Amino acid sequence: MAHETWTAVDEYVTSLLAPPDVALDAAVRAGEAAGLPQIQVSPPQGKLLHLLAKTIGASSILEFGTLAGYSTIWLGRALPPGGRLITLEANPEYAEVAAASIAAAGLGEAVEVRVGPALVQLPQLEADGAGPFDLTFIDADKVHTPDYFTWALEHSRSGSLIIADNVIRDGRLADLDDDDPAIAAQRRFHEHLAVEPRVEATTIQTVGGKGYDGFSLIRVLD
Ligand code: SAH
Ligand code: DHB
Ligand code: MG
Repeated sequence: MAHETWTAVDEYVTSLLAPPDVALDAAVRAGEAAGLPQIQVSPPQGKLLHLLAKTIGASSILEFGTLAGYSTIWLGRALPPGGRLITLEANPEYAEVAAASIAAAGLGEAVEVRVGPALVQLPQLEADGAGPFDLTFIDADKVHTPDYFTWALEHSRSGSLIIADNVIRDGRLADLDDDDPAIAAQRRFHEHLAVEPRVEATTIQTVGGKGYDGFSLIRVLD
């Protein structure tokens, strides 16, 4: 049982539960046309982000890693009227493609795309008094996941949800001999979660069209 089956099931679930959507499909096509990597969350995963954001009533969302704006649109559509989403993207060309798709999705007012490496942008976000964020989606450069988590935690409230993508990477998370910096960072991140008294967390393995990977889900305690 392998990738073919996972892809077929993703397509089956997508066809019934995340059917074609003008703005989301256009965002993917715009990314493709501009030569952006096709590494956005899958449709079922995008819908999971959307459902989680709605379930907790998130009105303030932070995203690390915009790419073409696909996950941004899923999350932005979960916002109540007046809700806001800030998404951070290092690559100015990606940010421009994303901003156009986000505007075309009718989310130009609610969503702000900030351009530049996230670690450089965070002090400005802080200076702007941004947050607390009800939901943070961490999906940028994987080597900095632990740093983005630490910042997100400091800018959360009781009950906030923090989600990190790509923490499993074909099972490499648990291969202690794998010293790739992006993998080692996922282990450091988990070691932090294990001892962090301010959160409760779990990690779920996923398969699908994007292969074998997983999410961490973290709830900030009361
Ligand atoms: N969340 C998107 C996918 C993001 S892919 C989706 O699911 O639709 C990861 C993105 O992080 C890429 O666009 C990449 O350019 C961006 N990125 C890489 N390093 C970064 C950094 N230091 N700061 C902010 N974004 C970064
Ligand atoms: C990559 C990044 C992602 O956010 C993802 O979900 C899959 C792959 C990557 O950089 O290869
Ligand atoms: Mg990802």
